[in-house]
Amino acid sequence: MRKVTARAPVNIALIKYWGKKDEINVIPYNSSLSITLDNLYTETTISESEEFKFILNDVNQGLEECNKVKTFLKHFASLDAINKVSITSVNFVETAAGLASSASGYAALATAANSYFNTNLSINELSKISRLGSGSSTRSFHGGMVAWDRNNEIYQVESKFKEFVMISVIVDQEKKYISSREAMKITVNTSPLYPTFVSESNKYFEVMKEALYNGDIKLIGELTEKSTVLLHETMEKANPSIKYIQDESRVIWDMIYKARSKGLYSYISMDAGPNVKVLTNEKDYLKIINILEDNNFKYYHISRMGEGAIIIG
Ligand code: PMV
Repeated sequence: MRKVTARAPVNIALIKYWGKKDEINVIPYNSSLSITLDNLYTETTISESEEFKFILNDVNQGLEECNKVKTFLKHFASLDAINKVSITSVNFVETAAGLASSASGYAALATAANSYFNTNLSINELSKISRLGSGSSTRSFHGGMVAWDRNNEIYQVESKFKEFVMISVIVDQEKKYISSREAMKITVNTSPLYPTFVSESNKYFEVMKEALYNGDIKLIGELTEKSTVLLHETMEKANPSIKYIQDESRVIWDMIYKARSKGLYSYISMDAGPNVKVLTNEKDYLKIINILEDNNFKYYHISRMGEGAIIIG
């Protein structure tokens, strides 16, 4: 039986992408830049089957999810061929709670499909298809630090300093209350802060590339946090207001501010969900873990910089 398995990592944006200039081709208004994580990922297997099936985390998916996947796979094969495969995906990360499982999910599906259906697309072409499913997935094809610029190019960015540690603190494992696709549209159309978000993010992006190149970790941390703060301020000003930050998320922010004032390298990052990521380094991360544990935040992932999407079998 023919069978292909791909693994694709989660990436966390340090400079956040939010908003599509072109909804159909998923072209962003602003440049973004992310870190690829080493131990949070999706594995997807495509295998021969009598009928189409999509199994996510051991659960057979219904019509709506199956149709979504089928539509995506049409970039790789005919409907006839698609109807003869089964897709089995496992997220080694919480699904749809702001831990970027859709990014790793679409990148893994695109990578597996490219191999299974022998389309032989380049990473660049694959990342362009993948972003039609989830914008941020376009950055999961490369390892290390990855740019997705507003001219729609994807590339790896050199980082002099490599000992970053990302702690993802799980505040809530539930599915997010509003999808990022929906929330983005509302923000672009109604937030008076959106033009500022775009122009500032594009500036942060340029400065971030330089800071990475120079290994200026203080500036890297500061820009990371600024991008997150601006993203959430911009969303909150939308109508209706979009609020992904929960009380517990705020508690973690305060703890991290305090830790930083005591000299520990630690900066906040948050996406379309209540979970909080802390950018820290090898030197300080255990102290940050101690602070989290002391405050009863005992559910977290510790990640480092990882590799991009690959075929594993
Ligand atoms: O990948 P999407 O379309 O769900 O967008 C997610 C965007 C953020 O995660 C909030 C930021 C980013 O750049 O990853």
